[in-house]
Amino acid sequence: MKTRTGYSSLQILLHWATALLVVFNWFYSDGMGRALRVHMDGVASTRPSSMNPDIHVWTGLAVLALVLLRLALRAVQGTPPAVGDGWMRRAATWAHRLLYVLLLATPLLGAATWFGGLKALGDLHELAANTLLGVAGAHAAVALWHHYVLHDRVLTRMVRPE
Ligand code: HEM
Ligand code: HEM
Repeated sequence: MKTRTGYSSLQILLHWATALLVVFNWFYSDGMGRALRVHMDGVASTRPSSMNPDIHVWTGLAVLALVLLRLALRAVQGTPPAVGDGWMRRAATWAHRLLYVLLLATPLLGAATWFGGLKALGDLHELAANTLLGVAGAHAAVALWHHYVLHDRVLTRMVRPE
């Protein structure tokens, strides 16, 4: 993979758009279990729901599309090398790989549950979504630690294109 000095403006835009949509969809998920039962059994819900399951489904599919675009862009444009050396570089590389795995697994498991009718995968989808939020939260805390404690360029380079 090509290395470069920073992220492109499109890579930065995709990073923040993905982050925003993931967090939105995590919060906009209450009621999906009930919606799934209605969707699969084809019966009308007895209780009115304030959420629209289509919004959760299509926002999640948008995340999948943006992540696929991001991975293609990484392959074409390259990325800057991880900051630091030794354990810090390895930790950053593996944390980013884990984030990409969860960013793909979460919407794919959701789609298999919703469109594929594989009810049993619903719990796995929920577990993947919760793990994604946890890992992304830790990732954001580390980014802020780089900025405010280590005073390096890690956070700035995800804001300013190079
Ligand atoms: C990154 C994107 C996504 C996130 C963060 C996310 C998050 C969540 C969360 C936290 C729940 C648990 C809700 C609860 O019952 O409290 C859930 C449930 C669900 N989501 Fe997603 N989701 C995403 C994408 C998708 C997609 C793309 C689909 C379908 C195409 C989908 C379909 C479902 C279904 C059917 C359930 C109910 C599962 C069950 O109760 O067994 N989700 N989602
Ligand atoms: C759901 C939320 C988030 C997800 C899924 C996410 C995901 C990712 C991924 C996959 C990368 C690797 C980019 C690559 O090299 O291709 C990355 C990089 C980065 N993220 Fe996030 N992120 C999230 C939220 C945040 C937040 C809130 C911050 C800041 C407070 C942040 C700061 C950064 C920075 C600074 C980098 C670049 C790290 C480096 O160059 O070594 N991210 N993010």
